[in-house]
Amino acid sequence: MLISGKELANEVKDQVRERVEKLKETYGREPHLVLILVGDDPASRTYVAGKYNDANSVGFRVTRLHLSAATTEKDLLALIDRLNGDLTTDAILVQLPLPDHINEQKIINSINPHKDVDGFHPENIAALWQRREGYVPCTPRGIIRMLDWKGIEIDGKHAVVVGRGNIVGLPVSKLLLDRNATVTLTHSRTPDLGSLTRQADILIVAAGSIGLIHGDMIKPGAIVIDVGINRNPETGKLCGDVIFEECEKVAGMITPVPGGVGPMTKACLLENTVECFIDNENRNRNSSMMTI
Ligand code: GUN
Repeated sequence: MLISGKELANEVKDQVRERVEKLKETYGREPHLVLILVGDDPASRTYVAGKYNDANSVGFRVTRLHLSAATTEKDLLALIDRLNGDLTTDAILVQLPLPDHINEQKIINSINPHKDVDGFHPENIAALWQRREGYVPCTPRGIIRMLDWKGIEIDGKHAVVVGRGNIVGLPVSKLLLDRNATVTLTHSRTPDLGSLTRQADILIVAAGSIGLIHGDMIKPGAIVIDVGINRNPETGKLCGDVIFEECEKVAGMITPVPGGVGPMTKACLLENTVECFIDNENRNRNSSMMTI
């Protein structure tokens, strides 16, 4: 049985669109998301175009800045500094990865944590691990939303996460722990990975490794969430880290690629942008009250 992230993402987008109408009445403007793409990586171009279209479709103001691959770190830092100080910029997203000559962590650290719609800033990461309020990265947030939407119990279940990255593996593990799952965190170099994945009630795969998970690595009836987005070199088609044809026969539910997690990442970006907007409006109001 398929878990269609696309279907849920459409529901979320409808909710955000309605919310934007009300926010415009209350605050006199719409949320403003700034998307920054550096260079011409084809996958990044596609992702940013998708985010741009979704944000437009719900009535946000969206600014897309496409900088050349030769942009210096200094110039990118200066741009972010300007956006941090701009009262009408609510949310800043720098698409990753960045070209090698730019220090990615330095760029992430430079974004005002209140405008860090991706939840990648160390302050937001710390907030997540310390159970304080902050921005939660979009893909992990989308995964939990999909599980809840399908009525899948998390409490008391054994979740196995494959992948230890900052964008998915680590934060989704924390969100699952907070929901009382027992989490085994693994990666593509874990010896005998199958002996662990076969124990999973919920298996989340975000290793970026095509064909990593075979049908015999899945417990019958397990929930399989495939976060991988790879291009099959033979067919040119998009595919995940999970061999779908093998795993769908064994899994209780499974996400397809494309149409699974990807649309939910973008939908949760919209929700995070609304939160950034409200936060920004409240901060602007408070600071103008203090100057009076
Ligand atoms: N690259 C891959 N996933 C993401 C994401 O969620 N946000 C950004 N900014 N870059 C990414």
